[in-house]
Amino acid sequence: MTTSAFPSANEQHVTERVRRAFASLERARQHTLAIIGPLTDDDVSRQHDTLMSPILWDLGHIAAFEKLWLLQNLDGPIEFSEMPGTYNPFEHPRSTRGSLPLPTLAGQREELARVRQAVIERLSAEAFDANDPLLRDAYVVRMVAQHERQHQETILQTLQLKLGEPYAAPRAIPLPSGTSPAVEGAMVRFPGGPVRVGTDDRSEAYDNERSSHDVQLAPFDIDITPVTNGAYRAFVDNGGYDVREYWSDAGWAWRTESGVRAPKHWTRDNNGEWTTRSMDRVERIDPLRPVCHVCYHEAEAYARSVGKRLPTEQEWEAAATWNPEDGVQQRYPWGNDEPSSALANVDQLSFGTAQVHAYPHNVSPIGCYGMIGDVWEWTSSDFHGYPGFEAFPYPEYSEVFFGSEYKVLRGGSWATSADVARATFRNWDYPIRRQIFAGFRCARDA
Ligand SMILES: [Fe+2]
Repeated sequence: MTTSAFPSANEQHVTERVRRAFASLERARQHTLAIIGPLTDDDVSRQHDTLMSPILWDLGHIAAFEKLWLLQNLDGPIEFSEMPGTYNPFEHPRSTRGSLPLPTLAGQREELARVRQAVIERLSAEAFDANDPLLRDAYVVRMVAQHERQHQETILQTLQLKLGEPYAAPRAIPLPSGTSPAVEGAMVRFPGGPVRVGTDDRSEAYDNERSSHDVQLAPFDIDITPVTNGAYRAFVDNGGYDVREYWSDAGWAWRTESGVRAPKHWTRDNNGEWTTRSMDRVERIDPLRPVCHVCYHEAEAYARSVGKRLPTEQEWEAAATWNPEDGVQQRYPWGNDEPSSALANVDQLSFGTAQVHAYPHNVSPIGCYGMIGDVWEWTSSDFHGYPGFEAFPYPEYSEVFFGSEYKVLRGGSWATSADVARATFRNWDYPIRRQIFAGFRCARDA
């Protein structure tokens, strides 16, 4: 399949944004196939962890979602509940998906290809009515591509938790090394004032990123880099998991019940050295890489141990995109160029984090490194709709999750697609979750 099968370049109604949406859809599929390439039928049919679906389910759900939005929906409005039962996430919680009757890997690959072929045929004649917010600039195409990308990150989480032989990661993106020494805990000041966060974009942003609005921030300091393995190891080795004052009540309850004493996937060897595993690679922890696979409670406890706190999501976004000198909101920390694996550790095929100063352009106007890529960053904010929130195109994406149960994560990880990693993107999960490729950086009142 090539992009030439999509709306042709000389058709006048095909805008640049439409072309980019189709290119994104095509790239999404290439990555899905690259990621599942090394997997056997056994790998994809097993439920490797109760938190995760069997990969066969993700694949079937990707195809079902595409069919729903790019075929059925174009013939007349649909409801999300029309998603076929097996692949409807609300009918089958993840922990139960291992007992669903699912096709073989070959069967799922055929279904993905069959749906995509039908979509190409259907959409080559589509005029993308500019008066329809779902069709304008092919928003719905971009949405389906992003959905596939987000499930890829979910699949990568599953592969990190894989039982049996470790996943033979097809590392196709090499990681650069740090360009300057990490200074543990170094901070930079954000002067505060009115800043603009969120977006009004209708070509790729999700409903929960809208609308663009002003917030008034007090001055604060924020870490120049994410907290490193080296800094976090000191917290572990100095007994941070045993100091009650560092932990919130909920955090201490989790810490006590779980018995956790280090980030997930960290192991102490016989010489007392910490190693960590990333897919099929076990290495001594690199003190210059961001700590990964910690939950919100661990992030919060670490921050308290050094006299800091986690940033709110508004502070995080201001530190990532606001230029206080010019009073301008950029799209990304480095400016307005689209993310790529040259600018930041995104796009999934590096299969690990890079050292914190490895990307010299991935610096925000105030001087924060690595806000896009490497690890998601926990913020102290609960997941709520922005002022004037309107669910679009379906409330099951975000609105049904709004509330104080979830904490917001920002910035994307190495496992996030460059087509999804943007500064306004909001991820959310329970504060006890550690399967996410998540770390954090700290803040404090100025
Ligand atoms: Fe989904």
